[in-house]
Amino acid sequence: EWTMKNFIDIEIKKIRDQVGDKKVLCALSGGVDSSVVATLIHKAIGDQLTCIFVDHGLLRKNEAKEVMEVFTEEFHMNVIHIDAKERFLSKLKGVDDPEKKRKIIGNEFIYVFDDEAEKLKEIDFLAQGTLYTDIIESGTETAQTIKSHHNVGGLPEDMEFELIEPLDTLFKDEVRELGTQLGMPDHIVWRQPFPGPGLGIRVLGEVTEEKLEIVRESDAILREEIKKAGLERDIWQYFTVLPNIRSVGVSGDRRTYDHTLGIRAVTSVDGMTSDWARIPWDVLEKISSRIVHEVEHVNRIVYDVTSKPPATIEWE
Ligand code: XMP
Repeated sequence: EWTMKNFIDIEIKKIRDQVGDKKVLCALSGGVDSSVVATLIHKAIGDQLTCIFVDHGLLRKNEAKEVMEVFTEEFHMNVIHIDAKERFLSKLKGVDDPEKKRKIIGNEFIYVFDDEAEKLKEIDFLAQGTLYTDIIESGTETAQTIKSHHNVGGLPEDMEFELIEPLDTLFKDEVRELGTQLGMPDHIVWRQPFPGPGLGIRVLGEVTEEKLEIVRESDAILREEIKKAGLERDIWQYFTVLPNIRSVGVSGDRRTYDHTLGIRAVTSVDGMTSDWARIPWDVLEKISSRIVHEVEHVNRIVYDVTSKPPATIEWE
């Protein structure tokens, strides 16, 4: 009989047999898949696992801190936190094309990961949160990028990893169940999808720290209000975007000329198609009013009411 409990027991045994007393490396992004795979492997082999968490400076508010806390303080895992913010921002300077931005962020991620992996001694295995669906579709997640990169020989010459992909027979809902059974907190197990390039593709055009700050702060308010309204699990993905246009507004008796901010919230099954979420007006009102009052340089909020297709979920 297939149960999650059996699955865990079988996978733990398999991982132990495969790894023996050797060492495993895992790129932890804070997303559901990499988090669950790291937790499962840690349960199997404990300190023989080392995780690398690359903070590219394009994460949501408090995200890096939360990820580090859960995995180091609650789960007592070895996690190396790499603050690569400056590295990514300087590479992105002056770049406004979305695909170029994606490429730069993806490549830089690999370089940073490789630099760190090279410093570690005698690692034989690389763990990845590849799902069954990632194998069918061509995945867009960071783990996939690492995989394709490493498979074409992008690792330093003297380093050869064998892959461990214990989730490769599971669907997303099963990964969530697995995470819950492993004792992981809901805020990780039920985390909404977050793109590898992060807020870098939610600041349209050139990415600057100032614009990132607007998206980061407004996104935090949006998430807080969606949670308060109990809508977290009804909306598949929700975030704010900075289109980089300014419009006229008024504050007291003064004319302002400041940023317009977009709110995107969608319902979907797999992200391939989506509809805009019918967030109740009063919740939208609260979000809008809080953002214009609490986030500097925003004087207008628009709500995206487009389905996919013809729009995409992200604006870039
Ligand atoms: P779109 O915007 O194409 O997004 O409708 C569909 C889903 O994919 C996510 N997305 C990405 N994820 N790297 C990722 O890892 C990317 O470059 C990327 N672009 C979009 C998006 O957040 C949504 O969940």
